[in-house]
Amino acid sequence: MREGRFSDKVVLVTGSTRGIGRAIAVAFAEEGAKVLVNGRQKEAAQAVAEEMRGRGTEALGLGADISDPEAVRGMVEEGLKVYGKIDVLVNNAGISLPPQPAEGVQREGFEKVMAVNLTGAFLCCQAVFPSMRERGGGSIINVSSQAGLFGEPGLLPYCVSKAALLSLTRCLAYEWSPYGIRVNAVAPGFVAGGMNEPVLKYEALVSTLSSRVPLKRFAKVEEVVEVVLFLASEAASYINGEVLVVDGGMTGYRTPSILQLTSGRGR
Ligand SMILES: NC(=O)c1ccc[n+]([C@@H]2O[C@H](COP(=O)([O-])OP(=O)(O)OC[C@H]3O[C@@H](n4cnc5c(N)ncnc54)[C@H](OP(=O)(O)O)[C@@H]3O)[C@@H](O)[C@H]2O)c1
Repeated sequence: MREGRFSDKVVLVTGSTRGIGRAIAVAFAEEGAKVLVNGRQKEAAQAVAEEMRGRGTEALGLGADISDPEAVRGMVEEGLKVYGKIDVLVNNAGISLPPQPAEGVQREGFEKVMAVNLTGAFLCCQAVFPSMRERGGGSIINVSSQAGLFGEPGLLPYCVSKAALLSLTRCLAYEWSPYGIRVNAVAPGFVAGGMNEPVLKYEALVSTLSSRVPLKRFAKVEEVVEVVLFLASEAASYINGEVLVVDGGMTGYRTPSILQLTSGRGR
């Protein structure tokens, strides 16, 4: 097992069979944590955990659909049985629907997104709470999105779920701080990986989306991972109920800018 910032820590990362979650799981393990890898299919989670163990890190694969309360309870019970505790929960699992106008969104699709992105995260928080309280603390990081900070036409269910996840973050931070449990969120912008993988094939689209970002590019997956690890670490011991926006400056920026409109200059 590796030595590092998270030696002796047990970390559960939901939705870590691929994409950003997988990179978060690997990074925690590389820094000494025992990692619980999760996805809906047990085999997929076990395959990732096995690969991680093959690289000399410690991981266990657990299958659970996080929108299913029984499955979440079972996953956390199994993690606790094997490793004895859970110090860090990263609520990373998330889904979106293909873009469509708000008036066309079906109730079923809306509820499915909420069930995973919001209810699933809430269920996981509740499931790890007793163990964190008993041990005198813990850290929860919710992976929200810049889409949770403002409206994005075509992505209503996703935006609503990610905005509500920020509220969940603040409510739990205030309620659970007496137990030493910190709850924070990250809000990534466009990331070059994960659910954006198919988008990356379309150069013109990537270039148009990048033009909305002051840094003029998508985030690398590692740039999100680093922030999650920071929030879980001792370096963030006084950060609670906070959302760290990792979007290259996009949420604070209007495009086209006044400068572009009045002088045609490209900033
Ligand atoms: N990529 C971006 O640009 C971006 C930007 C902002 C925020 N985010 C957020 O970052 C998080 C990770 O996104 P990503 O891009 O890495 O997505 P991704 O590549 O699609 O991965 C999603 C992960 O969630 C798991 N998952 C989906 N539904 C689940 C469920 N019901 N129960 C358990 N696991 C489930 C998937 O595993 P299985 O399919 O094996 O179950 C997979 O491991 C999401 O919350 C997303 O909203 C992403």
